[in-house]
Amino acid sequence: MKQKITVREVGLRDGLQIHPTFMQTERKLAWIAAETAAGVGEIEVTSYVPPKLIPQFADAAEITTEALKIPGLVVTALIPNLKGAQRGIELGVHKLNFVMSVSHTHNLKNVRREPDESVADFKNIVALIKEQPEGKRPLITGGLSTALGCSYEGRIPVVDVVKRAVQLVQAGADELVVADTVGYADPQQVREVFQAVLKEVGNVPVAAHFHDTRGTGLANVSAALDCGITHFDASLAGLGGCPFAPGASGNIVMEDLCFMLDSMGYDTGVDLTKLVEVRQIIEQALPDIAMQGAIAKAGLPHNYLTASQRHAA
Ligand code: COA
Ligand code: ZN
Repeated sequence: MKQKITVREVGLRDGLQIHPTFMQTERKLAWIAAETAAGVGEIEVTSYVPPKLIPQFADAAEITTEALKIPGLVVTALIPNLKGAQRGIELGVHKLNFVMSVSHTHNLKNVRREPDESVADFKNIVALIKEQPEGKRPLITGGLSTALGCSYEGRIPVVDVVKRAVQLVQAGADELVVADTVGYADPQQVREVFQAVLKEVGNVPVAAHFHDTRGTGLANVSAALDCGITHFDASLAGLGGCPFAPGASGNIVMEDLCFMLDSMGYDTGVDLTKLVEVRQIIEQALPDIAMQGAIAKAGLPHNYLTASQRHAA
């Protein structure tokens, strides 16, 4: 078996944050349970943002508490600031995903901070985590939004991405997420940006977060794999998009990502058939939501053997 790849489901956060209809809490929990049962080991289950701003996450506490009861699941949540970190620590979440944008304008629109202020917030968050007793310290991810393009500023200089990556790692990030928030990237650009970041911060895991807004999503995954990236965000049925970035649309499709990786011989730990079945929960709960996905439509290839079946044969 080839290398293990970690896939993280972000649909419950990135997918739902842009959707106007509230998904009932028990439906969200059914989604989390079913996707864990399909073999996805890490799920960003919610976002600790003001519920007035994004009512979809008014149930963040209940979602976190219930998700934490699922054995083996790594439960993560997005935070935009210190208050979000406090909420996550109180709930005992495993991992906090701090988000800031490399683009100055998007950072102001999204979290109402200068990027330098966000870096300062991040340092305070790390300090708060360190104050917690052992066993109560969540891991902290530094998420760099708009790292491959911004719908306010266009192309983002690679040096700016590297600068923010280094700042967050020096401040204590356990992991980075480099995100193409608005789906501008192409594989060549992915190579440039990820190689530049890895060269400076190769000591922490760097995850890739791609949106398929312009059809380059899985090609970008392939380019990131070539750079040595082994952690990918995706969302079931390709839901997703930032409500504070004009023109944003869905993440790469989790089912298609897992199929491509499995077909290439990587070990994702995911059962493709069970994963596709999880879509029914979303279909039933949110009949008005746009669902993407090639594998769900076309099915697995005739006589397809999964990576583990091929390995066992
Ligand atoms: N969770 C809950 N409440 C929060 C909060 C959090 N993480 N952060 C701030 N608040 C509350 C404050 O307590 C305050 O409440 P009050 O009015 O009752 O006193 C109020 O929100 C305003 O706080 P302030 O610090 O001034 O926030 P702000 O208005 O400058 O907004 C953010 C800043 C970061 C909270 C907001 O822009 C945000 O949540 N952005 C994230 C957007 C997002 O999710 N984008 C998509 C993901 S990429
Ligand atoms: Zn995203």
